[in-house]
Amino acid sequence: MKLLAVVGARPNFMKIAPLMWEIERRSGVEALLVHTGQHYDQQMSQLFFDELRIPRPDANLEVGSGSHAVQTAEVMKRFEPVLLDERPDAVVVVGDVNSTIACALTAVKLGVPVAHIEAGLRSFDRAMPEEINRILTDAISRWLFVSEPSGLENLRREGVAEERMFFVGNLMIDTLLACRERSEHSDVLRQLELEGQPYGVLTLHRPSNVDDSAVFQALARAVGRLQSELPIVFPVHPRTRQALAGWNLAQMPHLRLTDPLGYLDFMKLLAHARLVLTDSGGIQEETTVLGVPCLTLRANTERPSTVSEGTNCLVGMNPERIIEAGLAAIAGEPAVGRVPQFWDGSAAARVLDILTAKEH
Ligand code: UD1
Repeated sequence: MKLLAVVGARPNFMKIAPLMWEIERRSGVEALLVHTGQHYDQQMSQLFFDELRIPRPDANLEVGSGSHAVQTAEVMKRFEPVLLDERPDAVVVVGDVNSTIACALTAVKLGVPVAHIEAGLRSFDRAMPEEINRILTDAISRWLFVSEPSGLENLRREGVAEERMFFVGNLMIDTLLACRERSEHSDVLRQLELEGQPYGVLTLHRPSNVDDSAVFQALARAVGRLQSELPIVFPVHPRTRQALAGWNLAQMPHLRLTDPLGYLDFMKLLAHARLVLTDSGGIQEETTVLGVPCLTLRANTERPSTVSEGTNCLVGMNPERIIEAGLAAIAGEPAVGRVPQFWDGSAAARVLDILTAKEH
């Protein structure tokens, strides 16, 4: 069986890595890897290939940044000739970024079936670009690989046939568990002079938080207050860099800005944090497995099991609410949560068992 796997943006790399490792271990299945180039900075892309030992892509479409329409269209235009040349048995896409829907749509129009990893997640917020990408990718994919039970419920509600959906667990957690020991060797805490000290971690990159200056200013108020209680490390996403000019950073001496971090450093930083504040999807899941309290600075989450089972708390963007929840987490007992079913390091193996089963 010949698979063609696609990655484009930073959160895709940790989802595709365990699939590529598992394919290397098996006979009878080969995979080509295409990088769309949606993310291209060394710190947002190549570093993850190196650290996660992802094979060099067979093609890099080098689409770069652009408006949603431009970026999506550019991926489609450049992906189509690769598919025509390679004629894989199936295309594997992950997550919910523009590269995900662009490659899925290109493939199905050429009659190539698509497998979607991390299918069925829904925030029910159609102002979120990723929600549109999720709904559309799921609608046209042949295999829907689901990471948590809400994904199955959402797909059923949308009328998807049972034989298309498979509850396999979380591939990103395969990567987390496989890299746990190596990430503990990172000396990021020493470099930040935080070894043995309590600290928090902040990440922000959603357009709804960063591109809306009223929201972004309100978040500054909350971060300003919390950093006076606990030093906070803030690896800054490229989207967020410019907007930060509007924050009065001089008033936040305990907020430590860094460039985007590599995977191993970031996992070490998360694992030892007293508190994490984020608007990322993946970090809600990683903190759940690491047992670290996470305050999600969003009105909704497409990953409800991180709240019902894990250590995640949805606090929204109201500064008073964030400060109250943050202070409680700093002062409180360590978080307790359960690891959701199948977030166990074997999700990629389940995906490949299904994809390579005889009946397809
Ligand atoms: C994208 C995904 C989002 C994901 C996020 C993770 C979509 C719609 N959004 O958002 O779901 O959570 O990646 O990071 O696909 N830039 C650089 N260097 C890079 C990449 C981007 O400087 O390597 C800058 C560019 O100015 C670009 C901006 O960041 O315009 C945004 O990049 P883009 O890929 O459009 O969206 P993200 O916000 O990264």
